[in-house]
Amino acid sequence: MGDFKPLPSKELHKNFLEKVVELLFNTVVFTTRKDKVLLWRSPEDLLKEFDFELGQNGESQEKLIQVLKNTVKFSVKTGHPYFVNQLFSGLDPYGLAAQWLTDALNASVYTYEVAPVFTLMEQHVINEVCKMVGLEWGDGMFCPGGSFGNGTAINLARFSRFPQVKKSGSKNLPDLVMFTSEECHYSIFKFASFLGLGEEAVIKLKTDEVGKIVPDDLEQNIIKYKDKNVVPLMVVATMGTTVRGAFDPVAEISAICKKHGLWLHVDAAWGGGLLFSQRYRTKLNGIELADSIVINPHKLLAVPQQCSLLLVRDKNLLHSCHSRGAEYLFQRDKYYDSKYDVGDKYLQCGRKCDVFKFWFMWKAKGAAGFASHIDVLMDLAHYFEEQVNCRPEFAPVSQRQYMNVCFWYLPRYLRSRPNVSDFHAELHKVAPQIKMVMANHGSVMLNYQPLKSLPNFFRFVSQNSSLTRNDIDFILDHIAEIGDALFLD
Ligand SMILES: Cc1ncc(COP(=O)(O)O)c(C=O)c1O
Repeated sequence: MGDFKPLPSKELHKNFLEKVVELLFNTVVFTTRKDKVLLWRSPEDLLKEFDFELGQNGESQEKLIQVLKNTVKFSVKTGHPYFVNQLFSGLDPYGLAAQWLTDALNASVYTYEVAPVFTLMEQHVINEVCKMVGLEWGDGMFCPGGSFGNGTAINLARFSRFPQVKKSGSKNLPDLVMFTSEECHYSIFKFASFLGLGEEAVIKLKTDEVGKIVPDDLEQNIIKYKDKNVVPLMVVATMGTTVRGAFDPVAEISAICKKHGLWLHVDAAWGGGLLFSQRYRTKLNGIELADSIVINPHKLLAVPQQCSLLLVRDKNLLHSCHSRGAEYLFQRDKYYDSKYDVGDKYLQCGRKCDVFKFWFMWKAKGAAGFASHIDVLMDLAHYFEEQVNCRPEFAPVSQRQYMNVCFWYLPRYLRSRPNVSDFHAELHKVAPQIKMVMANHGSVMLNYQPLKSLPNFFRFVSQNSSLTRNDIDFILDHIAEIGDALFLD
């Protein structure tokens, strides 16, 4: 093959790249409701059907187009309106254009010299989002996802209390604990472990009937651990929990944190996009009282993955905690003011340019566009909940707090006999079976999970504001139809 060099040539690659774009237009970007969300294959079948082999010699462009077609064929179309499986969905045309552009430029956002537009843009967007949180908010960083942002916040909380940890590690530190909701995101445990605090240092606080932390439980636990000579380090409150979309009472939690000297991190990965909504911004009341916040524009605001922000109230903390001043990258004698080299406040070295797709979508739609997107989604969630409440084959898990609608499909034999002895065990089997049929049809992707002592239930959530009430009727009718066929009297 003559094109082993990593440089496109018009003669060799223009036609090929045009065909790729055409393929994406036809099979991914402009799909319709009539197309499948996925073409399901078991892992064993896909291993046989898809050509994963890599060889000594390269393939022809014709074959490569076929490989791309097959890759699309067996991949999930997360931009399809019936992909309601995850806390990301939709395919924003401006976000996509921006992502294509940054991929073509292949920038790495650490120094001004390598990424002049994007380093300035990052600081601009961070400043704008800080202003939306509150006047005292100072700095932030883009993260490869909310999990990483949460983990970074734990490290910042520890550093701000025990700055010696940066140089001498955790060997002379007291025993530490941190508190979070029993319905928090699992990244809190992963990163507590990763940072050497250990999973057992994460104390789970009770949640109420809709999924919010019970503040009294927090204060009692702080006192309990202080009495045992363990240092309570921080609280992670969630605004928009993963499963039920609950908003912890952050103002009350903040008062307790201030009283006892704890860092407050707010995981608003899911709920934080509400900063853009005049109608629903009040759900975030109290967020400004935190010390650090994670917001994922790639969730509610439908920015293509990944786009996640960690905001920090203290302007200097990210730099003092993370900087290392690598001389090959952050030289002090540059030909411009090196304060514009933002990279040293980050933990990563090379870094994708996630800001651009967010900035470009903001530019294209305005803040008002994001607000309208949120209004449509909230209206859809409201309609979904109404339908669940009024149709006899469905039952709500708890009152909706946000976009998440959690519900059971009740088979007929359980509908009429709620006192069946193994009601929970029977109900637990229902959602996985319905999901399997939907996957086989390739019709709808909808998540399910158990929670605390509750048997498996479905969670409907969408960030695709092109969904309509008709789509919701279709999704619920589809579940009912499959359920009625699977579970006879
Ligand atoms: C509340 C919450 N926090 C954090 C995360 C993790 O975000 P990411 O998937 O970007 O790592 C999620 C993911 O769903 C989440 O729901």
